[in-house]
Amino acid sequence: MVFPKILLTRTMPPETQKLIENAQDIELIHWKDGSIPRDQLLKLVPGVSGILCMITEKIDSEVLDVAGPNLKVVSTNSVGYDHVDLNELRKRKILFGYTPNVLTDATAELTALLVLAAARRMREGICAVENGEWKKWSPVWLLGTQLTNKTVGIVGLGRIGAATAHRLKPFLGANGKIIYTANSDKQAATELGATRVKFDMLIREADVICICCSLNNQTREMFDYDVFKVMKKNVILVNTARGPIIQQDDLIRALSEGLLGSVGLDVTTPEPLDPDHPLLKFSNVTVIPHLGSATLETRTTMGNLAVENVLAGVRGQPLPSPLEL
Ligand code: DGY
Repeated sequence: MVFPKILLTRTMPPETQKLIENAQDIELIHWKDGSIPRDQLLKLVPGVSGILCMITEKIDSEVLDVAGPNLKVVSTNSVGYDHVDLNELRKRKILFGYTPNVLTDATAELTALLVLAAARRMREGICAVENGEWKKWSPVWLLGTQLTNKTVGIVGLGRIGAATAHRLKPFLGANGKIIYTANSDKQAATELGATRVKFDMLIREADVICICCSLNNQTREMFDYDVFKVMKKNVILVNTARGPIIQQDDLIRALSEGLLGSVGLDVTTPEPLDPDHPLLKFSNVTVIPHLGSATLETRTTMGNLAVENVLAGVRGQPLPSPLEL
């Protein structure tokens, strides 16, 4: 019996791994050795019916050409899909599955964490303790700022943006405000009491800016030097979406010129960031390694959904979580 082949490009959390390994009607090709190098991806993909990929693999026309005509479905273990050429999938009538909703809470939680960490100078505090710089309590040492009465600006009030705003709202008190940018008024804004504003206004008015939009041609490098220049001097800027939404060299320039208060980044360009990268030299910048969805619960649920998507695709069934192309 010949079974359809599925290429799984990474080892998943245990429950998810079992789910795909227990499927009796497929042949699993499993890359087990960390992130799959491009040449290995191209070597393993010919003849597969399904690909279960991560954000670390570029799925472009070359991969699709090499995969050949058996390929029915690409399933990404992510909500973001800027690594996948959707036009090429559409042209070739290949189905596409992704994992929205299930990582909203984890990512919003981490975004709120970075806002608070940036506001309260968490990285500097930890470094001070570890480096023996912690002297007797002082009324003037490591003074951050608090969120009371602040204006939070959410760039992209989608699922994650709205969930982030809900988490931050209680910190703002009665006089705090939430403003957001989006292409249209959002239902979530009503419950939040949030106001839609133009991007130009958001960057001028917000004390805290959370980048929660997806990466696309409109948002790529949308935060550049000209934008940093007009932000409030003490602004807290947090990006948990995608690194290239920020023009990173411009960010470094703005930080060197003292234009920004504090920055929290879960995403950078590139990833991983070299430990000697200039961005890491600024004490008011906290960088963490793309951990937005990194809880066991969420990564298991995401993984299971990604497996269900790829299995449904090769079985000719509707995908549980498709993106209509
Ligand atoms: C996504 O899902 O797009 C995140 O960046 C990784 O969880």
